[in-house]
Amino acid sequence: MTQKFGLAEYDRAAELLRQRVERRGLQLVEGRPIGLVLGSGLNSLAEAVEGAVAVPYEEIPYFPASTAPGHAGRLIVGRLAGQTVVAMQGRFHFYEGYTAEEITFPIRVMKRLGVGKLILTNAAGGVNPGFRAGDLMLIVDHLNFVGMAGQNPLIGPNASAFGTRFPSLTHTYARSLRRAALASAQELGITLRQGVYAFLAGPNFETPAEVRFLRLVGADAVGMSTVPEALVSVHAGIEVLGISTITNVAVDQLDSDKETSAEEVMETGRVVVPQLTALLTAVLGRL
Ligand code: HPA
Repeated sequence: MTQKFGLAEYDRAAELLRQRVERRGLQLVEGRPIGLVLGSGLNSLAEAVEGAVAVPYEEIPYFPASTAPGHAGRLIVGRLAGQTVVAMQGRFHFYEGYTAEEITFPIRVMKRLGVGKLILTNAAGGVNPGFRAGDLMLIVDHLNFVGMAGQNPLIGPNASAFGTRFPSLTHTYARSLRRAALASAQELGITLRQGVYAFLAGPNFETPAEVRFLRLVGADAVGMSTVPEALVSVHAGIEVLGISTITNVAVDQLDSDKETSAEEVMETGRVVVPQLTALLTAVLGRL
């Protein structure tokens, strides 16, 4: 498999963004900006960003177009809780037909903009029987089913300008960031569950047999994003924090009257935004 993008492409996108940001008087200091990827129903979180420069994805060279419902499709750079943040209001998914490399293009652009830490959020189905719709879950580890099937953004000649051929994933979700999230949740009185996120391609929701299978192999939540972005981040030396909003309980029984729907996912996403905003603002304040 050959790679579509090289350093020249990442830098072209990064330079356009850097120019727009610096024109507004914002500085992007190497290692300081914090990346933020906002998942389904979570777009409004970006509204809290101050002094924001908002760039529609279609104006950024090589950026795919955002086609998923509830994903606005803008990159927002500004200040939030004392930090400079580079926020993606809407992300790209494998199920939209993009390659793993295309999905993660923005992450390497963030790296070229100096991003040192990245907060990934998503909507996920609850697989752990103790989880309820509206819960927040700190991602402690993941199961990459798409990667196991041979679709991994790091396949191909190694992008050695970013990182090593064989990255270790023992600490994919940085311990220091997990601690910051747990401490922030405790301070705010928010219940933050912890668990393993299973990444499936989608776009269909899981069958009841798949949900029972996921539970058996140690998944606590299931979703269609986040893992490719986490892989490219770890490869590039960006520390990752992952937070899932459990938007629905994944249905594990054939005779259930319940069916998961995109509407339910969006609606619960919207309902938890205030809690998630409070949590992320507190986390940012600690970094
Ligand atoms: N399954 C997969 N992805 C999801 C779900 C789900 O139940 N809910 C939100 N994203």
